[in-house]
Amino acid sequence: MSGAPDWTVVRGDFPLLTRTVHGKPLVYLDSANTGQKPECVIASVDDFFRRYNANVSRAVHTLGSEATEAYEAARGKLARFLNVRDDELVLCSGTTFAINLVAYSWALPRLQPGDVILLTRMEHHANIVPWQLIAQRTGAVIRVADLLPDGSLDLDALFAAMTLEVKLLGVTHVSNVLGTINPVATICREARKRGIITVVDGSQAVPHMAVDIPAIGCDFYALTGHKMCGPTGTGVLWAKREHLEAMPPFLGGGEMIKEVRFDGTVFNDPPHRFEAGTPNIAGHIGLGAAVDYLSDLGMDNIAAREAELLAHATEAMSQIDGLRIIGTAPDKAAVISFLVEGAHAHDLATLLDLEGVAVRSGHHCAHPLMQFFGVPATCRASFAFYNTHDEVEAFAAALVKVRRLLA
Ligand code: ALA
Repeated sequence: MSGAPDWTVVRGDFPLLTRTVHGKPLVYLDSANTGQKPECVIASVDDFFRRYNANVSRAVHTLGSEATEAYEAARGKLARFLNVRDDELVLCSGTTFAINLVAYSWALPRLQPGDVILLTRMEHHANIVPWQLIAQRTGAVIRVADLLPDGSLDLDALFAAMTLEVKLLGVTHVSNVLGTINPVATICREARKRGIITVVDGSQAVPHMAVDIPAIGCDFYALTGHKMCGPTGTGVLWAKREHLEAMPPFLGGGEMIKEVRFDGTVFNDPPHRFEAGTPNIAGHIGLGAAVDYLSDLGMDNIAAREAELLAHATEAMSQIDGLRIIGTAPDKAAVISFLVEGAHAHDLATLLDLEGVAVRSGHHCAHPLMQFFGVPATCRASFAFYNTHDEVEAFAAALVKVRRLLA
């Protein structure tokens, strides 16, 4: 699709969004947590189970071939979506698995005592804890690059932290808490100059903007399917072919081998070497349908729509006394963390739920970021293209009402 779609029609693609909560129309503002699913994704999963449910890459019967073809077609769709080769995409359960795969397969055999793993303060726990586990096992140390008060990365500090001992940099493309869009292409270029391997967490970027992995120039890119209209338990690790070829398997089992003998096993080629056991076949077929759907809408159209919703919501929230927005970087995705004076984030979220508004409250799997802002938790409204301007108004009205109740 070249022009902008009719967003009212698009909204109609999401059956769940017609429901009510506590007798109020649902206003779903938790898409950074998980995205809602369009009818075509639901139908593709249903169709798999009804018509051609079979295991992949092992049965020669018709159902087995159809399932394998659809599963591999999904890999191809994801590859085109991200502008990479099919054989560089490992299908997996999501970003957490993807980053752990890099940690255990790439980093564990390579890192030495005194090596540095550089992370940023705004990483999700999925891009912190695996590195802590690897640091404990190898003697490597974690170094943290800090932020500016608006929630942008302090790029000068980040580049200064890229010293000779740094072997790997983990950086999120978009912060799940602040919405900050990091200049990952620039960051990866600086890292590359210094021979540092880069791992980009793309979970919150891929659903909201066009992502061209070669243009970013990273070594590894991880993403999760359920935030981009796909089923849960789906995701991708993209890695340069040379890395995948040099990496030992992470998990052993069926389909990741060429030959198994008790005196030695020959492993399969990547990406199958990293896909032990029966994969989430239905889920990835559904993710392929999600990629078709998003591509049809156009990622640039989606980004523009969400930028409008973000501007509207930011403006409406700025009018509310005692409301503080946390994360005001100039380049932001449609995620707004906030607090209301005198109210706990969980109380706010509970009262908003009574108004039909779904927001997440808590630490958002980003404790170090909460520590940076000196708060235990925030409320977070996260938008997607299927939200409407009327919902932004309903959210703002609910906030005013809740604020009055808590005053
Ligand atoms: N990482 C997801 C979130 O930010 C679960 O809510």
